[in-house]
Amino acid sequence: MEWNNVMRTRKSCREYIDQQITTAQLKALLEAGCAAPVARGKFEQLQLTVVQDKELLDMIDAAAKQSYGDDSFSCTRGAPTVIIVSVQEDQGQIAPNMIASAGCVVQNMHLAATDLGLGSVYLGSIQAVNNSFEVLYKLKLKDGFWPVAALAVGNAKEPAREREIPVDKIFTNIIA
Ligand SMILES: Cc1cc2nc3c(=O)[nH]c(=O)nc-3n(C[C@H](O)[C@H](O)[C@H](O)COP(=O)(O)O)c2cc1C
Repeated sequence: MEWNNVMRTRKSCREYIDQQITTAQLKALLEAGCAAPVARGKFEQLQLTVVQDKELLDMIDAAAKQSYGDDSFSCTRGAPTVIIVSVQEDQGQIAPNMIASAGCVVQNMHLAATDLGLGSVYLGSIQAVNNSFEVLYKLKLKDGFWPVAALAVGNAKEPAREREIPVDKIFTNIIA
């Protein structure tokens, strides 16, 4: 797809069919994630976890429901794959720049998914799993790493269509 088409077609997908993405598609998504800009080039302070195990996806949803106190909330949105971006704490804290970096990784994968004709959505709500020792244990994260962002991805129920993007969607002032 041309860049302009990708940009106009990208949107958050929250309904998926029961069909896993292919290994080649996963590889393309991970390549896009690794191509993202990362603060001070500290790629070693990031970790990606691909979750395709249905039991663990259900555990993530259960942890988020409990964390938000909302039984109707769906974190994974029923996607067959969730790619979690975790960042390493530094002196007991997670640097805002590393959260921003995780966002760049997710956005790169989100756009790559669009280009591949897949549906996807950014999951800030993945942070809810930080309240579940059970889920954290199953994620097998390196020591001191915490999930901060994720991409849910799969084959969308409804194909995304290109849309017009109004250029005043975000208030802008130009200082010339
Ligand atoms: C940092 C961030 C966190 C988000 N977290 C969630 C989330 O947890 N669950 C969800 O369904 N959508 C989430 N979204 C998607 C936004 O709701 C969505 O991008 C926004 O409503 C605009 O819609 P669009 O992406 O279809 O253009 C998140 C987006 C961003 C940038």
